Amino acid sequence: MSEKPSKYYVTTPIYYVNDKPHIGHSYTTILADVLANYHRLLNVPTHFLTGTDEHGQKVQQAADANGITPQEQCDQTVVRFQELWKRLEIKNDDFIRTTEPRHKTVVQETLQELFDKDEIYKAEYEGWYCVGCERFFTEKDLVEGNCPECSRKVDSIVESNYFFRMGKYQAWLIDYIETHPGFIQPAFRANETLGFLKTKTLQDLCISRPKVRLAWGIELPFDTDFVTYVWFDALINYISAVGYKSDEEQFKQWWPCSCHLIGKDILTTHTVYWPTMLKAMNVEMPQSIFAHGWWLTGHTKMSKSLGNVVNPMDMIDSYGVDAFRYFLIAEMTLGQDASFTEESFVKRYNSDLANDLGNVANRVLNMISRYCDGKIPSVSSNGFDSSLEDALWKEAVAAAEEMGSMIGNMKLDASVSMVMSIVRKINVYLQERAPWSLAKQEGAEAEVAYCLYTAAECLRVCAALLYPVMPEKMLALRTALGMADAKPHLGKLAEFGVLIPGSAISQPGALFPRIEVKSVEATPSSLPPKKSKRDEGGAATKKKSGEGTASTKDGLITFDQVMNVKLRTAIVLEAEKIEGADKLLKLQVDLGEEKRQLVAGIALHYAPEELVGKTIVVVANLKPAKLRGVISEGMLLAASKGDTLKLVTVEGDLGSGAAVK
Ligand code: ME8
Ligand code: MG
Repeated sequence: MSEKPSKYYVTTPIYYVNDKPHIGHSYTTILADVLANYHRLLNVPTHFLTGTDEHGQKVQQAADANGITPQEQCDQTVVRFQELWKRLEIKNDDFIRTTEPRHKTVVQETLQELFDKDEIYKAEYEGWYCVGCERFFTEKDLVEGNCPECSRKVDSIVESNYFFRMGKYQAWLIDYIETHPGFIQPAFRANETLGFLKTKTLQDLCISRPKVRLAWGIELPFDTDFVTYVWFDALINYISAVGYKSDEEQFKQWWPCSCHLIGKDILTTHTVYWPTMLKAMNVEMPQSIFAHGWWLTGHTKMSKSLGNVVNPMDMIDSYGVDAFRYFLIAEMTLGQDASFTEESFVKRYNSDLANDLGNVANRVLNMISRYCDGKIPSVSSNGFDSSLEDALWKEAVAAAEEMGSMIGNMKLDASVSMVMSIVRKINVYLQERAPWSLAKQEGAEAEVAYCLYTAAECLRVCAALLYPVMPEKMLALRTALGMADAKPHLGKLAEFGVLIPGSAISQPGALFPRIEVKSVEATPSSLPPKKSKRDEGGAATKKKSGEGTASTKDGLITFDQVMNVKLRTAIVLEAEKIEGADKLLKLQVDLGEEKRQLVAGIALHYAPEELVGKTIVVVANLKPAKLRGVISEGMLLAASKGDTLKLVTVEGDLGSGAAVK
């Protein structure tokens, strides 16, 4: 880092404890871990905080459904995150849960203080309430007068609540953002927040929920009929965890936070609510809030209802933790969205890790073993031309020097690719220097030694620079290079001569064994079940070609054959996912005279809730078949091209049961 910070405090969002952690949560946490590791490597005192957000409606509902207390519910689900972080080699310094007393006390003290300072007041709140969703909406939230979530009727409700005087900080916040360019990053996100602040009136923030509606939260100290709104509670974790109002020394050590890492979904809460809360509390602003982009599956948003969420555990089981961490860091340009597919994962793994890094490591270690008795050779430049070695080493040093500023500027993908380019240069250098030919020449021992020593030193530097991303594998590589203290230290990083001549190298085995592409399952077509599957189910009636009525020799069919297929309009009444089948949805449709159940392979393209109410076209006289054990009484029509699939629907209001000809 050109300007090395005096300390580094990094946070992730605290994740909703009820969610099952997926690749998105993993990403932010790995990113924080990598940043923390780089700062530790730079000898900067570092503190890395993550945790879980445990209050609110969803936890209460889940607890009710499971017949346990909300606290028990949290205790059961928090381990999903804690275990995954362990698996992912996350080295967080602290893990905060919002149900811990150390957090709740601070939230209550803060609320009391703000209430005493008249930053919080009570007022009547008029809004619309959806009983089904148990949520409040303002007039402008409604869609055609109905609930924006479930489209049901909403009731007008007047309720008392407590409000934080957020609105009065609007002008201050605009000024603060404009005069602190690095405060919200990337810059286009700062503009997004400014755009909102400059065009809308900032309202006061409702920070309470009446207990009669929601009991699972932190009680307001000045009115026990209410609990705290979950965001007001959650944001405070960033200071309660480092000693705010409890350990002044610790608080002074870490606050202000260097970087709040968040996804772009929670930009407003972090760049509007949080700064104004801190301002009212008279606490210094964080140094930066960095919103990264979205991991998509292919080109589609990852979401539970679409069933296309990547499960990190599966990826780790198949390809290893370090490779998974490497892919996430190398593939996403911070700030932008990135796409995750197993195909792109395998491609990058094979090219960067198996072909480049793994290969160069093997070559260097094998040759040291063969030509230098398996020991790091001693070097002396004995009058031969070492310009190639000098040039290569200079590149490695330059990369080490460049790394700091790249990390400081959040250019992680570029920093990884810079190291990979050095790795490739080692390979090119070996090709050019051809130590295997030199080894055959009389009297060239010193040259061979110098060559392999230089290659090993460059590899040592690359392994150190990649260590924050792939701690386990890079430690293994450095150990293989004969280092007794394999953990990288900044001081010695770019010094030539760290590897000690005479120390025995070892063979770590293939660091990154190549993935055979055929072992990766091709993404199955999103179309309804394939013929062969239906055959197994006994439902298909297609005969062998030329044998029956299915088609004539010229591929044309007769009018009668068309008329044999009964196509009908149907209205989708219900739609739901099928447990254990990512691509299938179970639909209940109204066919006019009867109701039918269909199973369709459209789950990657339509969320269940999108389908309800649509008029679709169904093959009504198809013999029923079982798909994944679920009966399907017909088949819907859909058009597909490439990755896109669209249902065949009927224009206008024809109703169900109409014949399609
Ligand atoms: O919002 N791509 O928690 P949460 C990239 N409890 N990142 C993703 C992602 C994706 N597809 N999906 C999720 C909450 N994330 C609150 C936060 S903080 C005081 C309270 C990551 O469980 C990303 O970091 O919904 C996003 O901001 C976060 O998970 C949301 O986690
Ligand atoms: Mg979320």
